[in-house]
Amino acid sequence: MKKLIVGNLKMNLLSPEERERYLSWLKKELAGRKDKHSEIVLCPPFVHLEAFKKWNNRKVRLGAQDMFPESKGSYTGEISPVMLKNLSCEYVIIGHSERRRYFGESNGAINLKIASALKNGLKPILCVGETREEKESEQTLSVISNQVKEALLGVSRAKAEQIVVAYEPVWAIGGDKVPTANEIMEAKLLIRKILVDLFGKKYAESTPILYGGSVNTKTVGGVCIDSGMDGVLIGRESLQPHELVKISGIINDSCVLK
Ligand code: PGA
Repeated sequence: MKKLIVGNLKMNLLSPEERERYLSWLKKELAGRKDKHSEIVLCPPFVHLEAFKKWNNRKVRLGAQDMFPESKGSYTGEISPVMLKNLSCEYVIIGHSERRRYFGESNGAINLKIASALKNGLKPILCVGETREEKESEQTLSVISNQVKEALLGVSRAKAEQIVVAYEPVWAIGGDKVPTANEIMEAKLLIRKILVDLFGKKYAESTPILYGGSVNTKTVGGVCIDSGMDGVLIGRESLQPHELVKISGIINDSCVLK
């Protein structure tokens, strides 16, 4: 299984000119690279998906940052999974902590989105993780457990292989603090156990479990490689193509060395 390097560009790249600068810089950084063990997935704002699709040089996969669970109809302002699929999106981030926090997304709402993404042939990247308060009151594992179980309620075994889970402690996003490799490993083991209970060993073992939150070239060794994660979800650093490609290279090289 290739390691996944997911770049969440969030609400950035404010104009077509900025987007074009980003894409030509990224093209330059990717030129000549052949990372066999890692794969970059970029999740730009919706308005840039078409341009990213046209640009795509096959070294990068495409994802969205969110979606609405219905396929079409009177849902002003929303984006359907069918629209994403038609723009060559393969992945969609679901339940990012910023959606939970600013838009009040509940585990129930996230569950509907996961089911719809799977039904429409998209691979959902389910984000879970505890807040600082939850960590301080030692609720980390129970929070992760509830989030994973409720988000995946009713998902069939046959679809399990399409799911990606990202462990993203909310307190580690957008700052400069990261959990220890042991803490991340503990979260990963718990998530894997829940997946095995839900879907059986055969399917659950191939589900990629990523780490997200302040990933950069300095932290990636501890948060991804030492902790045995299947990849990373990157916010800020993904806006710097040279950093994004460097992180992908570090993870790729760690697989070569094994
Ligand atoms: P960050 O964001 O890398 O800027 O901490 C991560 C995320 O929000 O997924």
